Amino acid sequence: MIQQDFSTSEQAAEESVKVSAFRHRHAHLLSAAALACLQKANSGVESALSTLEVRDQQLFRLRLARWFQNLYEGLLPVYGQRADFDDFMERLVLLMARHYVQRPDELKVLDVERDLEPDWFQHESMLGYVFYVEQFAGKLSKVRDHLDYLEEMGTSYVHLMKVMQSRDGENDGGYAVTDYRSVDASLGTNEDLESLCADLRARGMSVCIDLVLNHCAQEHPWALAAQGGDARYQDYFYMYDDRSLPDAFERTLPEVFPEFAPGNFTLDENSGKWVWTTFNHFQWDLNWSNPEVFLEIVEVMFDLANQGVEVFRLDAVAFMWKRMGTDSQNQEEVFDLMQALRTCSRITTPAVAHKAEAIVAPDDLIRYFGVGRHHGKVSNFAYHNSLMVQFWSSLASRDTRLMTRALSEFPRTPNSIAWGTYLRCHDDIGWAIADDDAESVGLNGAAHRHFLSSFYSGEFEGSFARGGVFQFNKANGDRRINGTLASLSGLEQAIEWGNPELVDLAIERILLGHALICGFGGLPLIYMGDELGLLNDYRYVDIAEHAGDSRWMHRPAMDWDRADRRHDLNTIEGRLYTGLSHIIRVRRKTSQLNARYDTDIVDTGHPHVFAIANRHPLGTLACVYNFTESTQYLNVQPLYESGIVELYDKLSAREINVYNDVIELSPYARLWVT
Ligand code: GLC
Repeated sequence: MIQQDFSTSEQAAEESVKVSAFRHRHAHLLSAAALACLQKANSGVESALSTLEVRDQQLFRLRLARWFQNLYEGLLPVYGQRADFDDFMERLVLLMARHYVQRPDELKVLDVERDLEPDWFQHESMLGYVFYVEQFAGKLSKVRDHLDYLEEMGTSYVHLMKVMQSRDGENDGGYAVTDYRSVDASLGTNEDLESLCADLRARGMSVCIDLVLNHCAQEHPWALAAQGGDARYQDYFYMYDDRSLPDAFERTLPEVFPEFAPGNFTLDENSGKWVWTTFNHFQWDLNWSNPEVFLEIVEVMFDLANQGVEVFRLDAVAFMWKRMGTDSQNQEEVFDLMQALRTCSRITTPAVAHKAEAIVAPDDLIRYFGVGRHHGKVSNFAYHNSLMVQFWSSLASRDTRLMTRALSEFPRTPNSIAWGTYLRCHDDIGWAIADDDAESVGLNGAAHRHFLSSFYSGEFEGSFARGGVFQFNKANGDRRINGTLASLSGLEQAIEWGNPELVDLAIERILLGHALICGFGGLPLIYMGDELGLLNDYRYVDIAEHAGDSRWMHRPAMDWDRADRRHDLNTIEGRLYTGLSHIIRVRRKTSQLNARYDTDIVDTGHPHVFAIANRHPLGTLACVYNFTESTQYLNVQPLYESGIVELYDKLSAREINVYNDVIELSPYARLWVT
């Protein structure tokens, strides 16, 4: 009798699982077509989930029903014309269910935590730290020796670079992946990655790794099969029998690496075909119009998420879709695909967030958060490339008018996202400055970009910077720039010249930059060593795999001796570290810096001062920055108009003196005024 009751209630529970997810609760979120598609996939889901407890099954189904419309709407425009679309959707749903079943319990708890706190990544306590594992610690397992260091700084997000197996020799700094499933043997094993993720998680730090989804290495098994003539795998890439289509595409394609890898196509001697290679000749672009590629990458993403990765940096996403007659960047399908990928994570591994790496012009950049029908559905983070570029531009010209103008033009972002704010990363700086923004403040775009390259390569008379030119493009005159934060900010020159006053100025510039990215209401990303002022490392030329890529100039190895002196205020590193730590501590206590609140650019009317207003129900926080080495006097009316009532600087914890509506700003001053 008891036995019978039990099975009846179990059946009833199972029945309610199915019913609740597919009919009642979320039916209003699903179009008839999406619902029909989901129902078709249901039987597969049922058997895949059968080993889980009913509650656990229910949770998956609720999430599936809640987000399925986003998934469907992302994939329909891309693959909906195919006869096998329904089968593809069934396979995808099954893949999600299977990986949900495999997801470790601890991560499922994290999923629920994030369901309860979906804005976790926007919090003012968030701080990112970014490094090449080999340069920080040598190996993944050795990163664990430095957890105290990361925690002391207040890190809550760690971007580990070059984690997955990449090709031997030249490998674009790890971005030529030969195996998406295995950790690079030189860094350790998948078990090392999993345990590092767990250790970091235990200390409140989320691991981010790259998902290099625009291309894989020519040595990846898919590419090897394609080279061997396997038609299934040839369809994973863009391969052409002759030059006619490549030539037609080339007419409108830009060059990413004009020096290393001119052109966008490479002849594969094995198959005799021309292969699309946007970046280096050894990086083969994946064909995302093939749904098999989508399924492969989703599976990789789930596997890594189930090992504890919490953030995927989606590398080079702008290039994921090709269209004849265009530059084949930022195509509408990119946003469909990204919406679909993001939704896959939301359903299966909801703790996971996505960061878009799209280093594109301002008008396109905003689309990586989703505009129009993609609003808020594309990614959680995107790099604020324009803020970074404008910081360097204002620092060189001592003029903030272009910065104020260009950043004011940005449309409002959805309140569910966060900008990744940064000054330096492992890549070069490209001068993404729009001609019309330049013109609107009386500059010629090309001439200003030329000036910036001359300034930061150190060629410009009177420049404080030490850097290097990367990828001179003869066709359009572009010269991108390499260099660390410290070297580009004048520290290298100041030390070389043995001039303590110049050292002071360089330190102030660096701290100005740190305050800018920490005070913008996004996720500040500190590139390893920038907390200590690491200088350019010109010895990269001695390492065979690095010698050909001058970006290694600004990817120096961590200097742990310097790090040991970080609390000694008699050292440069001590002054920088202490200055940054202070900014980070104040940031954590400043609710206005939660990324969900709006950030407005304030036109101060002053050509050397940049200001923003971070809105908050508790009151506005204005951040004011003097971009010059001289004292400036600022009329505070624009600050009052932006909502500031009292002039109290949170960074120095002092009232600001006002005389006749004017305040004094010391060289490179930074104020966070409430
Ligand atoms: C991204 C990476 C960069 C790499 C490129 C191609 O932009 O940040 O280092 O060269 O993608 O993978």
